[in-house]
Amino acid sequence: MTIEECKTALVFGGARGIGAAAVERLAKEGYDVAFTYVSRPDSAQALVAEIEKSGRRALAIQADSADANALRGAVAKTVDVFGPLDAVVVNAGILRLNTVDAVSLEELDLMIDINIRGVFLSIQSAVPHMKDGGRIITIGSNTAERTGMPGASVYQFSKAAVAAMVKGLALDLAPRRITVNNIQPGPTDTDMNAGAIEMLSDRSPLKRVADPKEIAGMVSYLTGPDTSFMTGSSLTIDGGWTL
Ligand SMILES: NC(=O)c1ccc[n+]([C@@H]2O[C@H](COP(=O)([O-])OP(=O)(O)OC[C@H]3O[C@@H](n4cnc5c(N)ncnc54)[C@H](OP(=O)(O)O)[C@@H]3O)[C@@H](O)[C@H]2O)c1
Repeated sequence: MTIEECKTALVFGGARGIGAAAVERLAKEGYDVAFTYVSRPDSAQALVAEIEKSGRRALAIQADSADANALRGAVAKTVDVFGPLDAVVVNAGILRLNTVDAVSLEELDLMIDINIRGVFLSIQSAVPHMKDGGRIITIGSNTAERTGMPGASVYQFSKAAVAAMVKGLALDLAPRRITVNNIQPGPTDTDMNAGAIEMLSDRSPLKRVADPKEIAGMVSYLTGPDTSFMTGSSLTIDGGWTL
């Protein structure tokens, strides 16, 4: 592969779960991949080593998605090492479950900071360093459509905000042919659902949760040649959960 053919991706929140599966998939497809993490330097370094073993370059950067300066710094470091960005995946997100009577101000602010403000700031930081024709992908949630369980109102509206956000961003970035699309996974086998996999599988029409690799497959689709005309869309992949 020549220098001109090298592609660069940045995944916000890529050390584990869906983000790590996206990092692995993009590396397999020929991208040099940078990713941020906040709490798992061990997982981050293990992922870098795994990708380097496969012959691609990887870079792990500690950056809290609640910190605007850290996000700008992560983009600057990525561009410094790998050059301008072809693809950006905004995956970092948190889930705190509580019914309205029990939601604390602290958890309300935290979910807004990471799941909404952090998504916007990640994209805002990356855009000036993206190539024209680049791809931006957010990881929302099928709960933006329907939750079906109490205790998720804040998470639900945070993910609905992401679905709305990609529409406005798609229009802002259309003149540069940068597409912005949102993946809405249903229950997936990650730390976020630790202890709940059996219950979630039982409730799912397909009687299982997703493998993170299946969500990464959709990242691949949205970074690939078949989706250059798709922008502002939210694609749900949830085994029929929201039907
Ligand atoms: N699992 C599901 O069933 C499901 C369903 C629908 C949507 N989603 C969404 O998919 C995304 C990934 O979820 P997951 O299931 O893979 O969760 P996970 O296993 O809990 O991983 C969360 C990821 O987000 C990163 N992160 C969390 N807070 C961050 C912060 N303040 N700054 C930077 N990174 C931060 C974590 O980094 P560290 O590793 O460094 O902590 C980790 O990479 C989230 O947006 C989630 O809402 C998940």
